[in-house]
Amino acid sequence: MKPNLSSAKPLTSESHIEPKLMVVPVERIHKVLGYSQEIAYPGASLNTPLDKWNMEKDDSPIFRYLYSNHRPKRHLEFGTWQGQGVVYCLEESEATVWTINLPFGEKKEQDRAAYSYNREQIPQIQKWLERIGIIPKAVQSTDSVGFIGRLYLEAGLGNRVNQIYCDSREWDHSAFQPGFFDSALIDGSHKAEVVISDTQKAFELVRPGGLIMWHDFCPPVMEKFEVVKGVTSALVNNWEFLNQEVSPLFWINPSWILAGIRK
Ligand SMILES: C[S@@+](CC[C@H](N)C(=O)[O-])C[C@H]1O[C@@H](n2cnc3c(N)ncnc32)[C@H](O)[C@@H]1O
Repeated sequence: MKPNLSSAKPLTSESHIEPKLMVVPVERIHKVLGYSQEIAYPGASLNTPLDKWNMEKDDSPIFRYLYSNHRPKRHLEFGTWQGQGVVYCLEESEATVWTINLPFGEKKEQDRAAYSYNREQIPQIQKWLERIGIIPKAVQSTDSVGFIGRLYLEAGLGNRVNQIYCDSREWDHSAFQPGFFDSALIDGSHKAEVVISDTQKAFELVRPGGLIMWHDFCPPVMEKFEVVKGVTSALVNNWEFLNQEVSPLFWINPSWILAGIRK
């Protein structure tokens, strides 16, 4: 039976979660997860304020460390975009990755692309555009067919990726046995309804002892960024349920990552 999750309401303040949230300093992840090796986390990131955070610079060492220690054989990622997160997993483990993205990209108000390059950035990707035969537009969506997974394809790692093109809420996962995956990253839509739907699927499909990670979870800056607010409040509003399914469940400080081990 599917758990009955409450619909997420925005939080009014951080204090709601502070008493319940387990916070693990980045240099102590190994203690919580039982890894022998401590993370070599860059000092520059330790000194970066959370509202100046950059996933590729500041969260990537944590993702790489988690993949290289957890060593998944089968990994699931909600929200591929250009495949940067998938590359971290592929380079740090022997995993085959299944990853899901909307085929024609996420849209904001007035049908504007949520992820895009503008004209000045297009020279950087000119070779890729030529290779896939796309004539650049003034604003080029980078999370639609042709761009989804570009980075794992350019790295020659496409032989270990199963790309799924759909709204993750409509993903037919009935062919997968419960516990099929060793790990999952939830990093697709930031809307509460989708975060919860992706979380439920991850709980069904990740094995006991498997690693589940949510990106864009960061209570101290949730009021500053819509995406962080969407993800953080969706999860916090279902905190009890999450804690029933995952233990330990902890925010890595500093980071925009919530992590847990499937019970
Ligand atoms: C934050 S980006 C993913 C970043 C990626 N995980 C990485 O590490 O580089 C979010 C992605 O989720 C996709 N997305 C948004 N809503 C979605 C949905 N309902 N189903 C599937 N993908 C979705 C967007 O198109 C976008 O590419």
